[in-house]
Amino acid sequence: MLRVPEINTLVSGEILYVDVLPAPGNHQVILSKQERQNLLKQLGAEHYLPVSVASWPQTLGYIRKRNKGSNGIYKGPFFLSGLNETGTDLHLMQSFLTFAFSDTSKFEWHHKLGYFYPLCGEVVYGNQMGRRMGYPTLNIKPLENQKLIPPMGVYSGLVKHKGNWYQSMINIGIRPTLDLDKVTIEAHVFEFSGEIYGDEVTLHFTGRIRDEMKFPSLDSLKTQLKADQKAVLTALNTMNIDTATTEEFLLYK
Ligand SMILES: Cc1cc2nc3c(=O)[nH]c(=O)nc-3n(C[C@H](O)[C@H](O)[C@H](O)COP(=O)(O)O)c2cc1C
Repeated sequence: MLRVPEINTLVSGEILYVDVLPAPGNHQVILSKQERQNLLKQLGAEHYLPVSVASWPQTLGYIRKRNKGSNGIYKGPFFLSGLNETGTDLHLMQSFLTFAFSDTSKFEWHHKLGYFYPLCGEVVYGNQMGRRMGYPTLNIKPLENQKLIPPMGVYSGLVKHKGNWYQSMINIGIRPTLDLDKVTIEAHVFEFSGEIYGDEVTLHFTGRIRDEMKFPSLDSLKTQLKADQKAVLTALNTMNIDTATTEEFLLYK
């Protein structure tokens, strides 16, 4: 049960999680409010303190003053910075963005965050080309408008749908082979079939496979998808991710 604590009663070993809420406006977010709360629940957090960016410096001063001599600790604007960091930096989102987009040839967001990046969305209609190629895809519309989207490219990942986990390969891109130009997010989910339009799924990005490319024909794209599937399965199987005990977030240690 999450509760807003009496800040001055933190005792030895207790952790106060401080969630500095994104400033109002059109900012990109790493986790939506709901996701942040879910993550805390999964971590068994007891003390949770949401504060606005504006009041954070003052709150921090207060926390420090009241907890002098106590061994309880606080974790700073942790959702913006990632699980591994504590601190007071209000520009963490900016430094995360710099890190996240500096080298798009690899995908290592989980190194900073401590969990594989989740993207929750609704399954919407695509144009059914994937099915004809033998690689049907779920087209995903993110639920949270401000959610940060990984750079365009092909990824390995795990998909959660109605409590079940599936291995998957994901494409974020414009599909140049089909001469399209709108960015879409689509997942080909292994060992899965069924019409689930309108359902909610969460993609969890575990690694990057390659850049999106323009292929001379659908046949050559299909050959590439086969190779991608092999690469994704190898990558996922070497990672040894245990989904059996996982609720929402796939923690990365
Ligand atoms: C893992 C994966 C990799 C993909 N890579 C490319 C690519 O490199 N170039 C491209 O034009 N389309 C790529 N696509 C997109 C396919 O063209 C797309 O799945 C197909 O057109 C089906 O779209 P639809 O479901 O909207 O009909 C990829 C799709 C997946 C699932």
